[in-house]
Amino acid sequence: MVRTYQHEPFTNFKDEKNQELFQEALSYVNTQLGKTYPLIINGERIETDEKTTSINPSNKKEVIGYVSLANQELAEKAMNAALEAFVDWKKWKAEDRANILFRAAAMLRRRKHEFSAYLVKEAGKPWNEADADTAEAIDFIEYYGRQMLELTKGQPVNSRPGEYNQYNYVPLGVGVIISPFNFPLAIMAGTAIAAIVTGNTILLKPADATPVVAAKFVELMEEAGLPKGVLNFIPGKGSIIGDYLVEHPKTRFVSFTGSREVGCRIYERAAKVQSGQIWLKRVIAEMGGKDTVLVDRDADLELAASSIVYSAFGFSGQKCSAGSRAVIHEDVYDEVVEKVVSLTKTLKVGNPESVDTYMGPVIHQASFDKIMKYIEIGRTEGDLLVGGEGDSSNGFFVQPTVFGNIHQDARLMKEEIFGPVVAVCKARDFDHMLEIANNTDYGLTGAVLSNTRANIERAREEFHVGNLYFNRGCTGAIVGYQPFGGFNMSGTDSKAGGPDYLLLHMQAKTTSEMF
Ligand code: NAD
Ligand code: ALA
Repeated sequence: MVRTYQHEPFTNFKDEKNQELFQEALSYVNTQLGKTYPLIINGERIETDEKTTSINPSNKKEVIGYVSLANQELAEKAMNAALEAFVDWKKWKAEDRANILFRAAAMLRRRKHEFSAYLVKEAGKPWNEADADTAEAIDFIEYYGRQMLELTKGQPVNSRPGEYNQYNYVPLGVGVIISPFNFPLAIMAGTAIAAIVTGNTILLKPADATPVVAAKFVELMEEAGLPKGVLNFIPGKGSIIGDYLVEHPKTRFVSFTGSREVGCRIYERAAKVQSGQIWLKRVIAEMGGKDTVLVDRDADLELAASSIVYSAFGFSGQKCSAGSRAVIHEDVYDEVVEKVVSLTKTLKVGNPESVDTYMGPVIHQASFDKIMKYIEIGRTEGDLLVGGEGDSSNGFFVQPTVFGNIHQDARLMKEEIFGPVVAVCKARDFDHMLEIANNTDYGLTGAVLSNTRANIERAREEFHVGNLYFNRGCTGAIVGYQPFGGFNMSGTDSKAGGPDYLLLHMQAKTTSEMF
């Protein structure tokens, strides 16, 4: 019997033994740098002439690996492999598919620090963020394995005398999985695994900046016993193979996580029925956020300040859940802002290989440039209270930045920056706070710091986000505990790590037999 799901605990890095183990993992990964990684199609390793160079965002000169890039011809080959593998894989018992997942989770748990060390090197994650990313990947695998064991039982429907009705879920077909750089292991693995365990076969296109950790995960899934052709690994340029596969008539569904711009493009292109296509494609799109932390007049102000700071600056603000705006009741505005500024000044920014680094780099030059542009916009929209500096000479480092007195309709309050920048806005009362909270196109996460029950209950109904937290920050959802996904332009309303997520990868079939 499978034990009840519990989330993977985080590593306590205050413990010196754990520090030693993590250092060892970093040293090991250092010996693995600069390798080449092929595409994997139907189990076959394919090296291409065109490769992407994955670099360390803390140190641009350090190459993490060279990864082959698929062109349209190879994407087509991968599609054919996945179509062929689907014929057999869809017939596997759910239990047998889930057992591969449980084995993979055990293997990943044993190599947890190694995978986290890749995340430090390739994504610039500080230790605790890397550890949380790996833990979340393990959680997705464990959780979806168990969910599949439940779903395979089908749902009860009524029967009548002489008639036996059944309602069961069947897989969809070939899915294209497109993942972002910011949870290069957890989201990549979670979206891939959800599609696979439900009986589909997939083409996995990882983020351009973080293909090496994805390649390591694909190797691990092979070692765990996943049959050839079920997971085909095809790193490649979104504009070349992304568009091609999204439009492909044999693509049955697309599971995308990334920016609003790319998500909307995929949604639109997938909607067009192509010649030879005999279904309407399903699109799961998890997109951006402009997430808000509200501070009521009677909130615990220390907790409010730390919630704002850690929601804004964890992983350099590169989370869709990041609290990139804080809305504070005017009666406590000055006090909270003072605490936010002094806490921000204590954060250590630097190379994430060091255990005491709180904030590492941002992912690449384009991201650095975009964030610095928003910092310039911020200078015209409000008061720069702390930060504002960036240095991309060796790595892509941006200081944690707080802007005060930002108007509710300013660009800093509306547009996703995806960096360590938080806009702080003053509100008259709780009505005004809720009005500002809902004034974006997005609806992903939010937090309310308050000790007034009536305000908490109002926010529960009126603050329109997919993940709403009370008296804590707005990041750090745990699989199976806080299913994650947003409303409006944050996506297609799905909930990763939730009880109904796998259903998005299946279709229900009714059978009715007369006796
Ligand atoms: P991105 O949109 O730039 O890239 C995401 C993926 O899409 C990458 O693999 C990329 O190569 C691919 N892609 C690019 N063009 C494509 C095309 N034309 N067709 C198909 N695929 C294409 O996003 P990113 O910078 O990697 O990630 C950051 C974004 O992701 C932020 O907006 C963040 O809010 C969002 N995000 C959302 C969630 C969520 O659960 N809602 C989670 C994580 C990240
Ligand atoms: N699931 C991640 C969080 O909640 C994005 O922060």
